[in-house]
Amino acid sequence: MSFPGLRVRNLKIDPPLLLAPMAGLTHSALRTVIKGYGGVGLLSTEMLAARTVPTENPHVSPWLVRTDIEHPLSYQLLVTCPEEVMPAVEALHRFGADAIDLNLGCPAPRVRKAGGGSILATRQDTISRIIGMARKMTELPLTAKIRLGESLDVQKLRDFCLMLEGEGIDMVTVHARLRSEGFHRKPRWEWVGYVKQWLKIPVIANGSICSADDARACLRASGADGLMIGRAAAEKPWIFGSIAREVYDADIPAREIILPAVYRQVFNNLNSRFRPERRLGRLKEFTHYFARNYPFGHHLASAVQSSSTVEEAWERAVLFFAGTDPDGWAVAR
Ligand SMILES: Cc1cc2nc3c(=O)[nH]c(=O)nc-3n(C[C@H](O)[C@H](O)[C@H](O)COP(=O)(O)O)c2cc1C
Repeated sequence: MSFPGLRVRNLKIDPPLLLAPMAGLTHSALRTVIKGYGGVGLLSTEMLAARTVPTENPHVSPWLVRTDIEHPLSYQLLVTCPEEVMPAVEALHRFGADAIDLNLGCPAPRVRKAGGGSILATRQDTISRIIGMARKMTELPLTAKIRLGESLDVQKLRDFCLMLEGEGIDMVTVHARLRSEGFHRKPRWEWVGYVKQWLKIPVIANGSICSADDARACLRASGADGLMIGRAAAEKPWIFGSIAREVYDADIPAREIILPAVYRQVFNNLNSRFRPERRLGRLKEFTHYFARNYPFGHHLASAVQSSSTVEEAWERAVLFFAGTDPDGWAVAR
């Protein structure tokens, strides 16, 4: 199989493997590690409230700090009304965004109640005005991330996707689950294929892509132009390199990954870039996923989870690693 490169406006996404926006996870500390392993075509911030982002200090805000290697980087906005768009987009231009993504899929009740995420998909007029305003404001790639909707309704999904394209969205990512479905239900990748047939703009598939085999199966089922990876990126920050090599024939040499060293990199990045009070929660969130690399990883996860300081969490993690068989520290990728 040969895969043409993906270009969205002036942005080349090569290989077409995208990091999913994930609140509490896709911050600078993890993004840097992911980028270091190669194979990621586009990084992402976590969702950023359009209402508050213009007043954040990008050098200090835990949502905005970034280093030069985190590039290209898409900034995801959680918008609730058209009035929020102009100041937010201006701010993202100042911060050096490479793309702007609109969150139209978040099912969290708190977000929906505030008028954002998946609720917008049901407010045609508001979303049209939001996209129209954003489109006027930026020449950057303007993308949208959606779920399949409230129920499996081909016509509704088709109308919605055509509306996004018609209003000027440059690329759509489809998390192939309904709004009410958690993260564990099998994703409906074939529905991404329907979206792909309806639209002329690139369509990215998302949902439970955790290995090169999943990536191949998802591409077969969806015919998508690219793949977005979420939780597996926190579990295995090297996954993009593996999939890029195995699925997209990218020239990224296989190498050994030393698990405690990966953990230490994330920990060091958190310590050097985040204020003390911003470190522990993020380390806990990362550990929840990273611990899955170990057969008894729940011991690591609960030891870190019950720590009251980041230093205590680190000591407990070191103890856990010391108790594991060093032969199991290295994983091939
Ligand atoms: C902890 C967590 C936080 C998330 N935060 C966001 C977010 O900020 N914006 C968003 O569009 N989706 C968010 N998502 C959804 C992911 O982007 C992705 O669509 C979902 O995890 C499915 O992909 P995966 O199976 O590869 O993890 C989040 C998911 C998780 C697990």
